[in-house]
Amino acid sequence: MKTIVLYYSAGGATEAAAKALASEFSADIERIDTLTPYPEDEEAMIALGQKEAETGATPAIKPLAHDLSGYDTVIIGTPTWWYTMAPAVLTLLKSYDFKGKTVLPFQTHVGQPGHVIPDMRKELKGSMLFSGLSLEYGKDKKLTPRSESEYKEWTAAVRKELKI
Ligand SMILES: Cc1cc2nc3c(=O)[nH]c(=O)nc-3n(C[C@H](O)[C@H](O)[C@H](O)COP(=O)(O)O)c2cc1C
Repeated sequence: MKTIVLYYSAGGATEAAAKALASEFSADIERIDTLTPYPEDEEAMIALGQKEAETGATPAIKPLAHDLSGYDTVIIGTPTWWYTMAPAVLTLLKSYDFKGKTVLPFQTHVGQPGHVIPDMRKELKGSMLFSGLSLEYGKDKKLTPRSESEYKEWTAAVRKELKI
């Protein structure tokens, strides 16, 4: 059974979680990047992100370096952007075929998780979906204690049920 973690991260939080999960499950890992970078100016970036997330935009992403046909389990991570997944992750889910694979979605957020996991599920019809993991970061940029324990419970459940 081979596992890969695919994630998008603008500020590093989702990347930190993705790296922890990859090490936890001895999985390969790849970051998703948009072809056109977002504006460096934070306000401009947030405004564009809002527009894209609200309109369901699918910005072009760089092709994956890994061949997904070699993996049966895929962990997909996204920050929360305006209550849904980051647009780059929507592009990923629409561009690659995850049918027949076991997919484990996770999100990071700062208190408004929105409907990220259900939105990801909608795009992943035909995959075997494991329950999603929602990780909340506090003002100190650390996982909240509740999310810390959810992380532990979720990874234990994954290990038990998927034997990875
Ligand atoms: C454009 C944009 C929209 C966001 N919308 C939400 C939101 O709806 N709910 C929330 O809790 N956090 C929201 N956030 C905060 C991020 O989801 C959160 O900080 C996340 O952990 C960032 O992950 P990253 O560091 O990997 O990019 C938003 C951030 C950005 C840049």
